[in-house]
Amino acid sequence: MRAFLLFLCLACAAFTGFVYTSEGPRTEAAPSPAALAGIQLWQDKNCQSCHQLYGLGGYMGPDLTNVARKGDQYMSSFLKSGTERMPNFQLSESEIERICAFLHWVDQSGSARVSADAVHWTGSYIIKP
Ligand code: HEC
Repeated sequence: MRAFLLFLCLACAAFTGFVYTSEGPRTEAAPSPAALAGIQLWQDKNCQSCHQLYGLGGYMGPDLTNVARKGDQYMSSFLKSGTERMPNFQLSESEIERICAFLHWVDQSGSARVSADAVHWTGSYIIKP
């Protein structure tokens, strides 16, 4: 009995060691300092109230998960002056650059469009980079 308990303890310790030292499935790059500042702006200006990332968020504006693919110039044209429906946040050039850096980082993490065959019958899915 004692030997068995000892075996269980050692197996548990070995497995814990393995779990904590193995790399796991995370492959995305850490955000750059500019992207981190962009996340802060994204939160401060509450962009999520009108826009979605990965389909989650407000629905007044479009999903921005992959908007970075349209280019910095395209994104900054909206951020510089807003539109009839999107407010002008009076952002400085460097703030716009940071938001663009954040949106590039989001873009690299996956695609907002989930193909029908990737959706599990429970309705959940895994976003692949
Ligand atoms: C009050 C709602 C609202 C808020 C808040 C808002 N937006 Fe928008 N945004 C819109 C709408 C609506 C559009 C679509 C253009 C239009 O209809 O005027 C848009 C368009 C955009 C586009 C172009 C998307 C495309 O694919 O054409 C970008 C980029 C963008 N917004 C970024 C942002 C960022 C970054 C913030 C936060 C700083 C933000 N928006 C906050 C409403 C909003």
